[in-house]
Amino acid sequence: MESITSYIEEHKQRFIDELVELLKIPSISADSAFAKATTQTATAVADSLRAAGCDTVEICETPGYPIVYADKMIDPNLPTVLVYGHYDVQPPDPLDLWDSPPFEPVIKKTDKHPDGAIFARGACDDKGQMYMHVKAMEYMTANGKLPCNVKFMIEGEEEVGSVNLAWYVARNQEKLANDVILISDTGMIANDIPSITTGLRGLSYVEVEVTGPNRDLHSGLYGGAVANPINILSKMIASLHDENNHITVKGFYDKVEELTAAERAKMGEAPFSLENYKEALDIAAVYGEKGYTTNERNSIRPTLDVNGIWGGYTGEGAKTVIASKAYAKISMRLVPHQDWEEITELFKTHFENIAPEGVTIKVTPHHGGQGYVTPIDSLGYQAAEKAYEKTFGKTPIPQRSGGSIPIVALFEKELKSKTILMGFGLDSDAIHSPNEHFGIWNYLKGIETIPYFYEYFTALKNS
Ligand code: BES
Ligand code: MN
Ligand code: MN
Repeated sequence: MESITSYIEEHKQRFIDELVELLKIPSISADSAFAKATTQTATAVADSLRAAGCDTVEICETPGYPIVYADKMIDPNLPTVLVYGHYDVQPPDPLDLWDSPPFEPVIKKTDKHPDGAIFARGACDDKGQMYMHVKAMEYMTANGKLPCNVKFMIEGEEEVGSVNLAWYVARNQEKLANDVILISDTGMIANDIPSITTGLRGLSYVEVEVTGPNRDLHSGLYGGAVANPINILSKMIASLHDENNHITVKGFYDKVEELTAAERAKMGEAPFSLENYKEALDIAAVYGEKGYTTNERNSIRPTLDVNGIWGGYTGEGAKTVIASKAYAKISMRLVPHQDWEEITELFKTHFENIAPEGVTIKVTPHHGGQGYVTPIDSLGYQAAEKAYEKTFGKTPIPQRSGGSIPIVALFEKELKSKTILMGFGLDSDAIHSPNEHFGIWNYLKGIETIPYFYEYFTALKNS
Protein backbone atom coordinates (compact mmCIF):
# COMPACT_ATOMS: atom_id res chain seq x y z
CA MET A 1 0.00 0.00 0.00
CA GLU A 2 1.41 3.28 -1.12
CA SER A 3 0.77 6.75 0.28
CA ILE A 4 -1.00 9.21 -1.99
CA THR A 5 2.06 11.46 -2.16
CA SER A 6 4.38 8.69 -3.30
CA TYR A 7 1.74 7.38 -5.73
CA ILE A 8 1.50 10.87 -7.28
CA GLU A 9 5.28 11.20 -7.41
CA GLU A 10 5.53 7.88 -9.23
CA HIS A 11 2.67 8.42 -11.67
CA LYS A 12 2.47 12.17 -12.20
CA GLN A 13 3.84 12.19 -15.72
CA ARG A 14 1.20 9.68 -16.79
CA PHE A 15 -1.50 11.71 -14.96
CA ILE A 16 -0.47 14.76 -16.99
CA ASP A 17 -0.19 12.84 -20.27
CA GLU A 18 -3.66 11.34 -19.85
CA LEU A 19 -5.20 14.74 -19.18
CA VAL A 20 -3.41 16.17 -22.22
CA GLU A 21 -5.02 13.44 -24.38
CA LEU A 22 -8.47 14.26 -23.01
CA LEU A 23 -7.94 17.97 -23.66
CA LYS A 24 -7.16 17.30 -27.32
CA ILE A 25 -10.79 16.33 -28.00
CA PRO A 26 -12.81 19.48 -28.81
CA SER A 27 -15.97 18.75 -26.79
CA ILE A 28 -17.69 22.07 -27.48
CA SER A 29 -21.30 21.43 -26.47
CA ALA A 30 -22.61 24.75 -27.82
CA ASP A 31 -21.49 24.09 -31.39
CA SER A 32 -23.10 21.20 -33.28
CA ALA A 33 -20.11 21.07 -35.63
CA PHE A 34 -18.31 19.39 -32.71
CA ALA A 35 -21.00 16.82 -31.95
CA LYS A 36 -18.82 13.85 -32.86
CA ALA A 37 -15.93 14.97 -30.71
CA THR A 38 -18.22 15.70 -27.80
CA THR A 39 -19.74 12.22 -27.91
CA GLN A 40 -16.28 10.72 -28.28
CA THR A 41 -15.22 12.51 -25.09
CA ALA A 42 -17.96 10.69 -23.19
CA THR A 43 -16.44 7.39 -24.30
CA ALA A 44 -12.96 8.51 -23.25
CA VAL A 45 -14.27 9.49 -19.81
CA ALA A 46 -16.12 6.17 -19.45
CA ASP A 47 -12.95 4.25 -20.38
CA SER A 48 -10.93 6.20 -17.81
CA LEU A 49 -13.46 5.41 -15.06
CA ARG A 50 -13.33 1.72 -15.92
CA ALA A 51 -9.54 1.81 -15.78
CA ALA A 52 -9.73 3.61 -12.44
CA GLY A 53 -11.57 0.66 -10.91
CA CYS A 54 -15.26 1.41 -11.28
CA ASP A 55 -17.34 -1.78 -11.57
CA THR A 56 -20.34 -0.33 -13.34
CA VAL A 57 -19.72 2.09 -16.20
CA GLU A 58 -22.57 3.30 -18.40
CA ILE A 59 -22.89 5.80 -21.19
CA CYS A 60 -26.44 7.03 -20.76
CA GLU A 61 -27.90 8.43 -23.95
CA THR A 62 -30.05 11.56 -23.73
CA PRO A 63 -31.70 13.70 -26.41
CA GLY A 64 -28.43 15.69 -26.19
CA TYR A 65 -24.96 14.55 -25.16
CA PRO A 66 -24.59 11.39 -23.08
CA ILE A 67 -24.15 11.30 -19.33
CA VAL A 68 -21.38 9.05 -18.08
CA TYR A 69 -22.42 7.14 -14.98
CA ALA A 70 -20.05 4.87 -13.06
CA ASP A 71 -19.90 3.41 -9.62
CA LYS A 72 -18.12 1.13 -7.22
CA MET A 73 -20.36 -0.05 -4.43
CA ILE A 74 -18.32 -1.83 -1.79
CA ASP A 75 -20.81 -2.10 1.08
CA PRO A 76 -24.40 -0.85 1.38
CA ASN A 77 -23.76 0.04 5.01
CA LEU A 78 -21.03 2.49 4.11
CA PRO A 79 -21.67 6.07 2.98
CA THR A 80 -21.83 6.96 -0.71
CA VAL A 81 -20.09 9.90 -2.35
CA LEU A 82 -21.49 11.13 -5.68
CA VAL A 83 -18.95 12.93 -7.85
CA TYR A 84 -20.28 15.31 -10.49
CA GLY A 85 -18.29 16.99 -13.25
CA HIS A 86 -18.61 17.97 -16.91
CA TYR A 87 -16.63 16.92 -19.97
CA ASP A 88 -17.96 19.63 -22.28
CA VAL A 89 -16.13 22.93 -22.73
CA GLN A 90 -16.88 26.47 -23.80
CA PRO A 91 -16.29 27.53 -27.41
CA PRO A 92 -12.67 28.71 -27.69
CA ASP A 93 -13.27 31.87 -29.70
CA PRO A 94 -11.81 34.41 -30.30
CA LEU A 95 -9.16 32.03 -31.64
CA ASP A 96 -6.64 34.72 -32.59
CA LEU A 97 -6.22 35.66 -28.94
CA TRP A 98 -4.82 32.23 -28.03
CA ASP A 99 -1.03 31.96 -27.82
CA SER A 100 -1.30 28.27 -28.77
CA PRO A 101 -4.24 26.37 -30.33
CA PRO A 102 -6.96 25.61 -27.75
CA PHE A 103 -7.03 21.87 -28.45
CA GLU A 104 -3.26 21.36 -28.69
CA PRO A 105 -2.32 21.46 -25.01
CA VAL A 106 1.05 22.94 -24.06
CA ILE A 107 2.70 23.25 -20.66
CA LYS A 108 4.18 26.62 -19.76
CA LYS A 109 5.31 28.28 -16.54
CA THR A 110 3.48 31.41 -15.35
CA ASP A 111 3.93 33.78 -12.40
CA LYS A 112 1.13 32.07 -10.52
CA HIS A 113 2.14 28.59 -11.69
CA PRO A 114 5.93 28.29 -11.38
CA ASP A 115 5.66 24.47 -11.75
CA GLY A 116 3.91 24.94 -15.09
CA ALA A 117 0.30 25.01 -16.24
CA ILE A 118 -1.50 23.13 -19.00
CA PHE A 119 -2.90 25.58 -21.56
CA ALA A 120 -5.98 24.29 -23.38
CA ARG A 121 -9.72 24.87 -23.52
CA GLY A 122 -11.24 22.86 -20.65
CA ALA A 123 -7.92 22.50 -18.77
CA CYS A 124 -9.50 23.99 -15.64
CA ASP A 125 -13.21 24.08 -16.58
CA ASP A 126 -13.78 21.24 -16.15
CA LYS A 127 -11.80 18.40 -17.70
CA GLY A 128 -8.73 18.94 -15.54
CA GLN A 129 -10.69 19.26 -12.33
CA MET A 130 -13.01 16.38 -13.20
CA TYR A 131 -10.05 14.15 -14.06
CA MET A 132 -8.49 14.74 -10.60
CA HIS A 133 -11.37 12.65 -9.27
CA VAL A 134 -10.70 9.86 -11.74
CA LYS A 135 -7.05 9.73 -10.71
CA ALA A 136 -7.89 9.92 -7.00
CA MET A 137 -10.23 6.97 -7.59
CA GLU A 138 -7.44 5.08 -9.35
CA TYR A 139 -5.19 5.62 -6.34
CA MET A 140 -7.84 4.49 -3.85
CA THR A 141 -8.82 1.31 -5.70
CA ALA A 142 -5.24 0.34 -6.60
CA ASN A 143 -4.08 0.70 -3.01
CA GLY A 144 -7.02 -0.67 -1.04
CA LYS A 145 -7.80 2.84 0.16
CA LEU A 146 -11.39 3.24 -0.93
CA PRO A 147 -13.31 3.68 2.35
CA CYS A 148 -16.86 4.01 0.99
CA ASN A 149 -19.10 3.69 -2.06
CA VAL A 150 -18.57 6.01 -5.01
CA LYS A 151 -20.78 7.10 -7.88
CA PHE A 152 -19.68 9.28 -10.77
CA MET A 153 -21.97 11.35 -12.96
CA ILE A 154 -20.13 13.28 -15.64
CA GLU A 155 -22.23 15.24 -18.10
CA GLY A 156 -21.59 16.88 -21.47
CA GLU A 157 -23.99 19.81 -21.39
CA GLU A 158 -23.06 21.91 -18.37
CA GLU A 159 -21.93 24.82 -20.48
CA VAL A 160 -25.29 24.88 -22.26
CA GLY A 161 -27.55 24.66 -19.23
CA SER A 162 -27.66 20.95 -18.18
CA VAL A 163 -31.17 20.53 -19.54
CA ASN A 164 -30.93 16.79 -20.11
CA LEU A 165 -29.13 16.21 -16.83
CA ALA A 166 -32.03 17.79 -14.96
CA TRP A 167 -34.32 15.30 -16.69
CA TYR A 168 -31.98 12.39 -15.88
CA VAL A 169 -31.62 13.32 -12.20
CA ALA A 170 -35.37 13.66 -11.71
CA ARG A 171 -35.86 10.15 -13.13
CA ASN A 172 -32.98 8.39 -11.39
CA GLN A 173 -33.25 9.40 -7.77
CA GLU A 174 -32.64 5.92 -6.42
CA LYS A 175 -29.73 5.17 -8.69
CA LEU A 176 -28.10 8.47 -7.73
CA ALA A 177 -28.85 8.21 -3.98
CA ASN A 178 -25.88 9.44 -1.97
CA ASP A 179 -24.75 10.96 1.31
CA VAL A 180 -22.83 13.85 -0.17
CA ILE A 181 -22.11 15.30 -3.61
CA LEU A 182 -18.56 16.28 -4.42
CA ILE A 183 -17.71 18.70 -7.22
CA SER A 184 -14.47 20.28 -8.40
CA ASP A 185 -15.63 22.96 -10.84
CA THR A 186 -14.84 26.16 -8.94
CA GLY A 187 -11.74 27.95 -7.73
CA MET A 188 -9.81 28.90 -4.63
CA ILE A 189 -8.24 32.18 -3.49
CA ALA A 190 -4.58 31.34 -4.14
CA ASN A 191 -2.27 28.35 -3.96
CA ASP A 192 -1.15 29.41 -0.49
CA ILE A 193 -4.65 30.55 0.57
CA PRO A 194 -6.90 27.52 0.15
CA SER A 195 -10.64 28.14 0.18
CA ILE A 196 -13.79 26.09 -0.24
CA THR A 197 -16.69 27.48 -2.24
CA THR A 198 -19.83 27.72 -0.11
CA GLY A 199 -22.09 29.54 -2.52
CA LEU A 200 -22.93 29.86 -6.20
CA ARG A 201 -25.09 32.45 -7.86
CA GLY A 202 -28.21 31.62 -9.78
CA LEU A 203 -28.68 32.67 -13.37
CA SER A 204 -31.31 33.95 -15.74
CA TYR A 205 -30.19 34.29 -19.35
CA VAL A 206 -32.35 36.04 -21.90
CA GLU A 207 -32.12 37.35 -25.42
CA VAL A 208 -33.89 40.52 -26.47
CA GLU A 209 -34.90 41.71 -29.91
CA VAL A 210 -36.03 45.24 -30.75
CA THR A 211 -37.80 45.72 -34.06
CA GLY A 212 -38.43 49.09 -35.65
CA PRO A 213 -39.36 49.61 -39.33
CA ASN A 214 -40.12 46.55 -41.44
CA ARG A 215 -36.86 46.87 -43.41
CA ASP A 216 -33.44 48.44 -43.17
CA LEU A 217 -33.68 52.11 -44.17
CA HIS A 218 -31.46 54.83 -45.61
CA SER A 219 -30.29 56.70 -42.49
CA GLY A 220 -30.48 60.02 -44.33
CA LEU A 221 -33.90 59.66 -45.89
CA TYR A 222 -35.53 58.26 -42.75
CA GLY A 223 -33.06 59.22 -39.97
CA GLY A 224 -34.66 61.32 -37.25
CA ALA A 225 -38.18 60.41 -38.23
CA VAL A 226 -38.44 56.78 -37.09
CA ALA A 227 -37.22 54.89 -34.02
CA ASN A 228 -33.78 53.44 -34.63
CA PRO A 229 -33.81 49.99 -32.92
CA ILE A 230 -30.11 50.20 -32.06
CA ASN A 231 -30.48 53.63 -30.46
CA ILE A 232 -33.55 52.45 -28.59
CA LEU A 233 -31.96 49.20 -27.43
CA SER A 234 -28.91 51.10 -26.14
CA LYS A 235 -31.12 53.51 -24.25
CA MET A 236 -33.22 50.72 -22.79
CA ILE A 237 -30.15 48.80 -21.68
CA ALA A 238 -28.59 51.91 -20.16
CA SER A 239 -31.75 52.45 -18.11
CA LEU A 240 -31.47 49.00 -16.49
CA HIS A 241 -29.01 50.42 -13.92
CA ASP A 242 -29.53 53.65 -11.97
CA GLU A 243 -26.87 56.16 -10.89
CA ASN A 244 -25.89 53.90 -7.96
CA ASN A 245 -25.65 50.88 -10.22
CA HIS A 246 -28.72 49.35 -8.72
CA ILE A 247 -30.77 47.31 -11.16
CA THR A 248 -34.03 49.05 -12.06
CA VAL A 249 -36.07 45.99 -13.06
CA LYS A 250 -39.20 46.27 -10.93
CA GLY A 251 -39.28 43.72 -8.11
CA PHE A 252 -35.75 42.51 -8.85
CA TYR A 253 -34.46 42.89 -5.27
CA ASP A 254 -37.65 41.84 -3.47
CA LYS A 255 -36.33 38.44 -2.39
CA VAL A 256 -32.64 39.23 -2.15
CA GLU A 257 -31.22 38.08 1.13
CA GLU A 258 -29.33 40.86 2.90
CA LEU A 259 -26.38 39.58 4.87
CA THR A 260 -25.98 40.76 8.45
CA ALA A 261 -23.20 43.20 9.31
CA ALA A 262 -21.45 40.36 11.12
CA GLU A 263 -21.61 38.08 8.05
CA ARG A 264 -20.28 40.86 5.86
CA ALA A 265 -17.48 41.59 8.30
CA LYS A 266 -16.54 37.89 8.28
CA MET A 267 -16.50 37.92 4.47
CA GLY A 268 -14.29 40.98 4.54
CA GLU A 269 -11.63 39.06 6.46
CA ALA A 270 -10.76 36.94 3.42
CA PRO A 271 -7.44 38.12 2.00
CA PHE A 272 -7.96 40.43 -0.98
CA SER A 273 -5.86 43.14 -2.60
CA LEU A 274 -7.78 45.70 -4.63
CA GLU A 275 -4.50 46.94 -6.12
CA ASN A 276 -3.59 43.47 -7.41
CA TYR A 277 -7.11 42.96 -8.69
CA LYS A 278 -6.99 46.16 -10.74
CA GLU A 279 -3.50 45.47 -11.95
CA ALA A 280 -4.37 41.95 -13.11
CA LEU A 281 -7.18 43.38 -15.25
CA ASP A 282 -5.42 46.58 -16.35
CA ILE A 283 -8.17 48.80 -15.01
CA ALA A 284 -7.77 52.11 -13.21
CA ALA A 285 -10.83 51.61 -11.03
CA VAL A 286 -13.40 49.01 -10.12
CA TYR A 287 -17.05 49.70 -10.87
CA GLY A 288 -20.26 48.43 -9.36
CA GLU A 289 -23.15 48.73 -7.01
CA LYS A 290 -22.85 51.51 -4.48
CA GLY A 291 -22.46 50.44 -0.88
CA TYR A 292 -20.76 47.10 -1.54
CA THR A 293 -17.16 45.94 -1.77
CA THR A 294 -15.71 44.22 -4.82
CA ASN A 295 -15.95 40.79 -3.18
CA GLU A 296 -19.56 41.44 -2.22
CA ARG A 297 -20.45 42.73 -5.66
CA ASN A 298 -19.21 39.55 -7.28
CA SER A 299 -20.72 37.03 -4.89
CA ILE A 300 -23.57 38.03 -2.58
CA ARG A 301 -25.16 40.66 -4.86
CA PRO A 302 -27.21 40.03 -7.99
CA THR A 303 -26.11 41.54 -11.30
CA LEU A 304 -27.31 42.27 -14.82
CA ASP A 305 -24.86 42.21 -17.71
CA VAL A 306 -25.04 42.46 -21.47
CA ASN A 307 -23.01 39.55 -22.87
CA GLY A 308 -23.34 40.50 -26.52
CA ILE A 309 -25.07 43.14 -28.61
CA TRP A 310 -25.49 43.35 -32.35
CA GLY A 311 -27.39 44.82 -35.24
CA GLY A 312 -26.90 47.06 -38.23
CA TYR A 313 -23.74 47.34 -40.25
CA THR A 314 -20.51 46.13 -38.63
CA GLY A 315 -18.44 45.33 -41.72
CA GLU A 316 -15.54 47.27 -43.16
CA GLY A 317 -15.96 50.94 -43.94
CA ALA A 318 -19.22 52.83 -43.48
CA LYS A 319 -22.76 52.11 -44.56
CA THR A 320 -25.51 54.62 -43.87
CA VAL A 321 -28.37 52.53 -42.58
CA ILE A 322 -31.04 52.32 -39.93
CA ALA A 323 -31.37 48.65 -39.17
CA SER A 324 -34.77 47.09 -38.79
CA LYS A 325 -33.66 45.06 -35.76
CA ALA A 326 -31.24 45.15 -32.83
CA TYR A 327 -30.39 42.35 -30.42
CA ALA A 328 -28.70 41.69 -27.11
CA LYS A 329 -27.95 38.73 -24.87
CA ILE A 330 -28.37 39.54 -21.20
CA SER A 331 -27.45 37.53 -18.12
CA MET A 332 -28.60 38.15 -14.60
CA ARG A 333 -26.64 36.53 -11.78
CA LEU A 334 -28.92 35.84 -8.88
CA VAL A 335 -28.48 35.21 -5.18
CA PRO A 336 -30.24 32.63 -3.01
CA HIS A 337 -34.03 33.11 -2.66
CA GLN A 338 -34.31 34.90 -6.00
CA ASP A 339 -36.21 32.47 -8.21
CA TRP A 340 -34.77 32.46 -11.72
CA GLU A 341 -38.05 31.88 -13.49
CA GLU A 342 -39.71 34.67 -11.54
CA ILE A 343 -36.81 37.02 -12.32
CA THR A 344 -37.03 36.11 -16.00
CA GLU A 345 -40.73 37.09 -15.94
CA LEU A 346 -39.99 40.34 -14.08
CA PHE A 347 -37.35 41.21 -16.64
CA LYS A 348 -39.65 40.46 -19.55
CA THR A 349 -42.46 42.62 -18.16
CA HIS A 350 -40.10 45.46 -17.31
CA PHE A 351 -38.36 45.41 -20.66
CA GLU A 352 -41.65 45.44 -22.54
CA ASN A 353 -42.91 48.28 -20.35
CA ILE A 354 -39.95 50.58 -20.91
CA ALA A 355 -40.04 50.30 -24.71
CA PRO A 356 -41.19 53.46 -26.45
CA GLU A 357 -43.91 53.44 -29.07
CA GLY A 358 -42.57 52.77 -32.52
CA VAL A 359 -40.70 49.56 -31.69
CA THR A 360 -41.79 46.05 -30.77
CA ILE A 361 -39.96 43.90 -28.24
CA LYS A 362 -39.34 40.19 -28.06
CA VAL A 363 -37.74 38.64 -24.98
CA THR A 364 -36.67 35.02 -25.33
CA PRO A 365 -35.53 33.22 -22.18
CA HIS A 366 -32.58 30.85 -22.62
CA HIS A 367 -31.57 28.84 -19.58
CA GLY A 368 -31.24 29.55 -15.92
CA GLY A 369 -30.99 28.05 -12.48
CA GLN A 370 -31.17 28.78 -8.79
CA GLY A 371 -28.32 29.90 -6.58
CA TYR A 372 -26.91 27.75 -3.83
CA VAL A 373 -25.37 28.12 -0.37
CA THR A 374 -23.92 25.21 1.56
CA PRO A 375 -23.66 25.26 5.37
CA ILE A 376 -20.20 25.01 6.90
CA ASP A 377 -21.31 22.85 9.81
CA SER A 378 -22.23 19.85 7.65
CA LEU A 379 -20.20 16.64 7.82
CA GLY A 380 -19.22 17.14 4.20
CA TYR A 381 -17.80 20.59 4.80
CA GLN A 382 -15.98 19.42 7.90
CA ALA A 383 -14.46 16.51 6.01
CA ALA A 384 -13.36 18.83 3.21
CA GLU A 385 -11.88 21.29 5.68
CA LYS A 386 -9.86 18.53 7.36
CA ALA A 387 -8.69 17.24 3.99
CA TYR A 388 -7.35 20.69 3.02
CA GLU A 389 -5.74 21.09 6.44
CA LYS A 390 -3.93 17.82 5.81
CA THR A 391 -2.62 18.64 2.34
CA PHE A 392 -2.25 22.45 2.44
CA GLY A 393 -1.28 22.69 6.12
CA LYS A 394 -3.85 25.48 6.49
CA THR A 395 -7.53 25.79 7.29
CA PRO A 396 -9.41 26.67 4.09
CA ILE A 397 -11.50 29.85 4.03
CA PRO A 398 -15.20 29.44 3.18
CA GLN A 399 -16.00 31.70 0.24
CA ARG A 400 -19.04 32.39 -1.91
CA SER A 401 -18.37 32.44 -5.62
CA GLY A 402 -20.00 34.57 -8.28
CA GLY A 403 -20.22 31.79 -10.85
CA SER A 404 -23.12 29.43 -11.39
CA ILE A 405 -23.58 25.67 -11.54
CA PRO A 406 -27.37 25.60 -11.78
CA ILE A 407 -27.63 21.84 -11.41
CA VAL A 408 -26.36 22.02 -7.80
CA ALA A 409 -29.61 23.50 -6.46
CA LEU A 410 -31.48 20.85 -8.39
CA PHE A 411 -29.36 18.09 -6.80
CA GLU A 412 -30.45 19.31 -3.40
CA LYS A 413 -34.08 19.39 -4.44
CA GLU A 414 -34.15 15.99 -6.15
CA LEU A 415 -31.52 14.02 -4.27
CA LYS A 416 -31.82 15.78 -0.92
CA SER A 417 -28.10 16.02 -0.38
CA LYS A 418 -25.60 18.78 0.14
CA THR A 419 -22.88 19.56 -2.35
CA ILE A 420 -19.28 20.23 -1.38
CA LEU A 421 -17.47 22.45 -3.89
CA MET A 422 -13.79 21.54 -3.73
CA GLY A 423 -12.38 23.63 -6.55
CA PHE A 424 -8.65 23.91 -7.21
CA GLY A 425 -8.58 26.49 -10.01
CA LEU A 426 -7.57 30.14 -9.71
CA ASP A 427 -9.57 33.12 -11.01
CA SER A 428 -6.56 33.96 -13.17
CA ASP A 429 -6.76 30.57 -14.95
CA ALA A 430 -8.85 32.27 -17.64
CA ILE A 431 -11.79 29.87 -17.80
CA HIS A 432 -14.12 30.72 -20.72
CA SER A 433 -11.35 33.05 -22.03
CA PRO A 434 -8.49 32.61 -24.46
CA ASN A 435 -5.45 30.87 -22.94
CA GLU A 436 -7.37 28.92 -20.32
CA HIS A 437 -4.96 26.94 -18.18
CA PHE A 438 -4.72 24.79 -15.06
CA GLY A 439 -1.69 24.63 -12.79
CA ILE A 440 0.10 21.28 -12.63
CA TRP A 441 0.57 21.90 -8.92
CA ASN A 442 -3.19 22.50 -8.54
CA TYR A 443 -4.01 19.37 -10.53
CA LEU A 444 -1.77 17.19 -8.37
CA LYS A 445 -2.88 18.93 -5.15
CA GLY A 446 -6.46 18.09 -6.03
CA ILE A 447 -5.59 14.44 -6.61
CA GLU A 448 -3.81 14.43 -3.25
CA THR A 449 -6.64 16.09 -1.30
CA ILE A 450 -9.61 14.11 -2.63
CA PRO A 451 -8.80 10.72 -1.03
CA TYR A 452 -8.57 12.42 2.38
CA PHE A 453 -12.05 13.79 1.85
CA TYR A 454 -13.33 10.24 1.38
CA GLU A 455 -11.43 9.03 4.43
CA TYR A 456 -12.61 11.83 6.74
CA PHE A 457 -16.16 11.87 5.45
CA THR A 458 -16.53 8.13 6.06
CA ALA A 459 -15.00 8.44 9.53
CA LEU A 460 -17.24 11.38 10.49
CA LYS A 461 -20.30 9.61 9.14
CA ASN A 462 -19.54 6.44 11.11
CA SER A 463 -18.68 8.22 14.36
N1 BES B 1 -17.39 25.90 -13.63
C1 BES B 1 -18.19 26.99 -14.07
C2 BES B 1 -18.81 27.78 -12.95
C3 BES B 1 -17.89 28.37 -11.91
C4 BES B 1 -16.57 28.70 -12.21
C5 BES B 1 -18.37 28.61 -10.65
C6 BES B 1 -15.75 29.24 -11.24
C7 BES B 1 -17.56 29.15 -9.69
C8 BES B 1 -16.24 29.46 -9.98
C9 BES B 1 -19.29 26.46 -14.98
O1 BES B 1 -18.76 25.60 -15.95
C10 BES B 1 -19.90 27.62 -15.73
O2 BES B 1 -19.23 28.18 -16.54
N2 BES B 1 -21.17 27.92 -15.47
C11 BES B 1 -21.86 28.92 -16.23
C12 BES B 1 -23.34 28.71 -16.15
C13 BES B 1 -23.89 27.73 -17.14
C14 BES B 1 -25.39 27.64 -17.02
C15 BES B 1 -23.50 28.05 -18.55
C16 BES B 1 -21.56 30.29 -15.70
O3 BES B 1 -21.31 30.48 -14.50
O4 BES B 1 -21.60 31.20 -16.52
MN1 MN C 1 -17.49 24.23 -15.14
MN1 MN D 1 -17.84 26.87 -17.53
